[in-house]
Amino acid sequence: MSAKSAISFLKKAIKLEYNDVFLYHKEKQNAALSDKVRGVFEAFGNQEITHLDLFSIELKKLADEPTIELAPPSGAKSLREILFYHKASEENTIAFYEAFAEVFDDEDFKKKLLKVISDEKTHLHILEKLIKEIR
Ligand SMILES: [Fe+2]
Ligand SMILES: [Fe+2]
Repeated sequence: MSAKSAISFLKKAIKLEYNDVFLYHKEKQNAALSDKVRGVFEAFGNQEITHLDLFSIELKKLADEPTIELAPPSGAKSLREILFYHKASEENTIAFYEAFAEVFDDEDFKKKLLKVISDEKTHLHILEKLIKEIR
């Protein structure tokens, strides 16, 4: 994979991760949500920070300082809307990372990316369980 494609992958990955860090940590403060859901969002937000950090370090190796763009508000209001928003977001992230996972020449980074994909799949799985519980 060319450096140019790797940089463009990393920039989009940083945006996806930042969006999730922002929203999970914002929503964990929503007193209307149960302690269980808020605890899950807290843990997810912390894990997205480690993903953000990984991609930022990698981008710094290839290009300039990573720039962070503020995430747009999701617009989701009810627990159901919030969970469905995150389900779609995690699915989108997994599909994007999987499309790139095989094309990196850097074996060490590829391994780290596969671990991130596995984290995102865990997030998706837990969100799906939470969605079932509110039905
Ligand atoms: Fe993530
Ligand atoms: Fe995630």
